[in-house]
Amino acid sequence: MTRKLYIETVGCQMNMLDSELVVADLRRNGYELVDAPAAADLVLFNTCSVRAHAEEKIYSALGRLKNAKKRNPEKIIGVIGCMAQNHQKTVFTRAPYVDLVVGPGQLHQIPQLVRDIAAGGGQKLEVSLDRTGGARSDVERSFESYDPLRDEAMRPSRYQAFVRIMIGCDKFCTYCIVPKVRGPEQSRPPEQIVAEARKLADEGCREITLLGQTVNSYKYKDGDRTTRLSDLLHQLSEIDGIARLKFVTSFPNDMTQDLLDAVRDVKKCSHYLHVPCQSGSNEQLKRMKRNYTVESYREMLQRIRTTIPDAAVTSDFIVGFCGETEEDFQKTVALVEESRFKNSFIFKYSPREGTKADELYADDVPDDVKRRRNNELLAVQNRISYEDNQAFLGRVVEILVEGPSERARRQEDHAHGDDQPEAGGEQSHDHVHGPLQLVGRTNCDRIVVFDGNPRQIGQILPVTVYDANSFTLFGEVVTEHVGPQMVSLSL
Ligand code: 5AD
Ligand code: SF4
Repeated sequence: MTRKLYIETVGCQMNMLDSELVVADLRRNGYELVDAPAAADLVLFNTCSVRAHAEEKIYSALGRLKNAKKRNPEKIIGVIGCMAQNHQKTVFTRAPYVDLVVGPGQLHQIPQLVRDIAAGGGQKLEVSLDRTGGARSDVERSFESYDPLRDEAMRPSRYQAFVRIMIGCDKFCTYCIVPKVRGPEQSRPPEQIVAEARKLADEGCREITLLGQTVNSYKYKDGDRTTRLSDLLHQLSEIDGIARLKFVTSFPNDMTQDLLDAVRDVKKCSHYLHVPCQSGSNEQLKRMKRNYTVESYREMLQRIRTTIPDAAVTSDFIVGFCGETEEDFQKTVALVEESRFKNSFIFKYSPREGTKADELYADDVPDDVKRRRNNELLAVQNRISYEDNQAFLGRVVEILVEGPSERARRQEDHAHGDDQPEAGGEQSHDHVHGPLQLVGRTNCDRIVVFDGNPRQIGQILPVTVYDANSFTLFGEVVTEHVGPQMVSLSL
């Protein structure tokens, strides 16, 4: 009998990948995906703990399921991922009708745990050891990696996949919950990573994004051989079928020259680097324990620009961190002004229990000040993104076509009487006649929207940019004309 699974995922790409693996596993165990919790026998929330807001939203979503569970006690409800590791038993206290709480290191146990619950085994809690709960090797082992299973339908598109190269984080930035919920930093063996990428390529995948909380700290020692991220990029670039390689998220201090040289030299590597800075004030960086200064961050940016002149760099910033003065904030504004990031993700500081900042410092910036600083910084960044995107007008860019644009998908869902966006895949577009609005990305990770044809999904195409706003370039596929006006393309 097929049973029905509904899964909701919040948070980072790591969570998207985890959900893909959980779905693959459950499909093999007789589940099929549905797009509403009402229709599901098993409802899973794959959660994020980076900010309080993300956790509170999950409790609200759980609250909305309370009556459904009362009506149908057979429905199994699970909280998995970071918030499961962070809150553990508290999830059962706040939502007693939850059946299953599973941390990121135990996801492979879900099918068995669900079977146990269905057989009357009661509530199940499976989480990893606390960071101080044993010897490092025991703690490491309790965060098991879970990578071999894949499920195409859960990917951003058929042609794009995430591959985890490391788990955990050892940086312990004072505001951040990740080292607690994702455990110690551990790099995966390169052979495993290459084999996984090869398999994805065989399935038609064209772009691979390597994932790690501090992806550029990747280091795998085997005897006297050490593999770094730069080595991995060279190895992965040899896989036929893979056209693009990206990696996120980088830590500023680990942006070594060998890595920048690899990004420049490995033809398949996107010229795109996500290197969060967090603040433009040295006092704040110190309190955050980021272990670099504004000057050294600036020097790193300079090295990126010298080595890869057309690189697009993006950053994260936290506004309203403990003790942030107006002067500190203005230093962040000045850094964003001078750095010309492609874009920045800006967050209001959210105190997290169990972090050093929460223990040591008062959350003393009022929320309205955080909000104002957030908006001010965002306006500066958006203006810069707008200005930089204008430089693309009239230029031909090469894009990897990812699929229908948001607008095309909405229209299609509307035509089907279905409000849920579907996960990837171009299978359902066969009936579309005439141009379809498609979306793709440049080598420097800029989003391009253009009118195309479903056949172009998964291809790398030249597109001329005719308009641009802060977030999107608008283009037209370059068509070759025979005769005097023949366009010469440098591919
Ligand atoms: N409050 C607000 N933002 C945070 N981030 C991490 N922890 C917090 C927190 N407690 C942000 C950082 C990080 C991004 C993923 O989330 O900017 O780079
Ligand atoms: Fe969190 Fe810092 Fe680790 Fe990033 S590097 S995951 S911000 S502790």
